[in-house]
Amino acid sequence: MERTSKLSGFYKLPVEERLKKIAQFADLNKEETEAISKTGSLPIETANNMIENVIGTYELPVGVACNFLVNNKDYLIPMVTEEPSVIAASSNSAKLIRESGGFVTNSTRPVMIGQIQFSGIKNIAHSRQIILENKKDLLDYANEQDILVRFGGGAKELEIRVVPTQNFGELLVVHLLVDCCDAMGANAVNTMCEAVSGKIKGLLKEGTVGFRIISNLATERIVRSRATIKKDLLGSDTIDRILTGYEFAFNDPYRAATHNKGIMNGISAATLACGNDTRAIEAGAHSWAGITGKYLPLTKYEKDQDGNLCLSIELPLALGIIGGATRVHPIARANLKITGAKTATELAELFASLGLAQNFAALKAIATDGIQKGHMKLHARNIAMSVGAKNEDQINKIVAQMIEEKKISMDRAKEIFEELK
Ligand code: MEV
Repeated sequence: MERTSKLSGFYKLPVEERLKKIAQFADLNKEETEAISKTGSLPIETANNMIENVIGTYELPVGVACNFLVNNKDYLIPMVTEEPSVIAASSNSAKLIRESGGFVTNSTRPVMIGQIQFSGIKNIAHSRQIILENKKDLLDYANEQDILVRFGGGAKELEIRVVPTQNFGELLVVHLLVDCCDAMGANAVNTMCEAVSGKIKGLLKEGTVGFRIISNLATERIVRSRATIKKDLLGSDTIDRILTGYEFAFNDPYRAATHNKGIMNGISAATLACGNDTRAIEAGAHSWAGITGKYLPLTKYEKDQDGNLCLSIELPLALGIIGGATRVHPIARANLKITGAKTATELAELFASLGLAQNFAALKAIATDGIQKGHMKLHARNIAMSVGAKNEDQINKIVAQMIEEKKISMDRAKEIFEELK
């Protein structure tokens, strides 16, 4: 049989038939095929309705970050990640931070921006005036497209931008500002943009409607969290080392990228656990980090007059507690319940605090023992398991010996495993 990736009608097949075809194509053995088809708590029927061409489900560990005290309220944060050390690190930071009073947060309203782009408009200034003169009608029309108004949200404002291009002259771009309440908002915003674009086109009588889509640079949906860690809990030397590391990130994009990756280790894991769109969150965070034209860290560190360490974070977080996978994925629903967040904004403030804790843990570790000390033990466990060690006793022995020898590798783990057998 010809081996081709052109599988016409693949999407129409039942899940089992699809998997059979893929197993054939990729020469999957029985064990591999069963690993894909075995389901946990996400029913295959639900999975099949969530995305296209489903052949199975994929499990990752759900862990819980502990010790979070945010605005004097206790929280636990479920996280889904493949990376060892992440959850232990944020839990440790949160413990230290709660000893100094916990996190304090604030945020803007959960406003997303929808973009409606026009090209070929000759008189940009005149067109701008016409759109603004009709603002109320346009906002009303946008709000007819969705139920957000019923919850106190909806399209609230309309702004005009002019974007110069290399080959297509100036683009006129209308920004529709939509308060999305407890939804992430992409569907509502995109629907509104598509509807309103036609109305604007009718008003302008020139130009072409182009892109109509939400922006993930959610500059109107900003979340902030801060904490102070008492000098005595860290020591002045460690504080100075952390501050040096922060300034390193502030002045070097190579370091800033890793600094921000550490923040997103926390935020993306919690976002995934709660069935939200990790890519939207990442796009928003990184574009915000670069908004001044220089890629900067998402957190800030400084000392107060008493020498305590003040840390803070500010970033856009477009999270929802209703709609999408939060509704259909049973684990996402349960995880949201674990957070105890009653609004999307409360969830975002919690996740910003998590990002801050995650970042502080990384800076503290790198500034003192180095990141590998804590990381290596868990890494060694993964290696021990991947060479076939199954019971705790075997795993612990392989890990202990590799750490003592300072030689953590698959080859060494295999040798020790063989010796144990
Ligand atoms: C590893 O996943 C994340 C860190 O590299 C973050 C950082 O360097 O700040 C530890």
